[in-house]
Amino acid sequence: MSTKVYDCLKQIGEKIIENKDFLTDLDREIGDADHGVNMARGFQAVIEKVDPEDADIGNVLKKTGMTLLSTVGGASGPLYGTAYMEAAKVFAGKTEVGGEDFKAALEAAIAGIQKRGKAVKGEKTMLDALMPATDVFSEKIAGGASLVEALDAACTAAAEGVEFTKTIAATKGRASYLGDRSIGHQDPGATSLTMTLETIRDFLKE
Ligand SMILES: Nc1ncnc2c1ncn2[C@@H]1O[C@H](COP(=O)(O)OP(=O)(O)O)[C@@H](O)[C@H]1O
Ligand SMILES: [Mg+2]
Repeated sequence: MSTKVYDCLKQIGEKIIENKDFLTDLDREIGDADHGVNMARGFQAVIEKVDPEDADIGNVLKKTGMTLLSTVGGASGPLYGTAYMEAAKVFAGKTEVGGEDFKAALEAAIAGIQKRGKAVKGEKTMLDALMPATDVFSEKIAGGASLVEALDAACTAAAEGVEFTKTIAATKGRASYLGDRSIGHQDPGATSLTMTLETIRDFLKE
């Protein structure tokens, strides 16, 4: 037996690993061709190191964040690691996921990413998927939507955010070295972030 939270993280990992080459190719266009490799290595370690029997969502997310922090490398390792560790605090001691907690976890993840990376919306980073997704998610929850309904809308907003990253120049991270030449390419981190949200949605739908 394994817990739901572990199963969900395993599915996120499998999705990232499946898309390793795609994410790396995106990073080849505007970075150093390692985003997929970095993330796949990190999630392989998460699948192996996180205790499948641990039902405490906070513990599982914390272990995930620490593992990503120590194995992913690059800019995305500390950023994703911090995002999961900040989300972990919201779920400390909890074994169920509700809309309000999920919203708080998304907001905590954004705050953590911004504290570390100093990026704002519109700099062609993972935040261009996560911030609009979180805004839409919060609106939906406030309007009485279910977790899955809110996540569905959040995934659409995240995917639109990825499209938006194609239209702007990067001003943070390695892609910023290209300046305007980064326009026309979608951001790898925004793409992996959207895959993460889509996997959680699909998992919760089942
Ligand atoms: N300061 C930042 N804030 C938020 N996200 C960032 C920042 N810098 C880079 N990123 C994200 O990290 C991704 C690149 O990750 P990765 O290729 O793994 O690391 P590196 O750029 O060090 O090679 C980018 O596509 C972007 O989404
Ligand atoms: Mg890279």
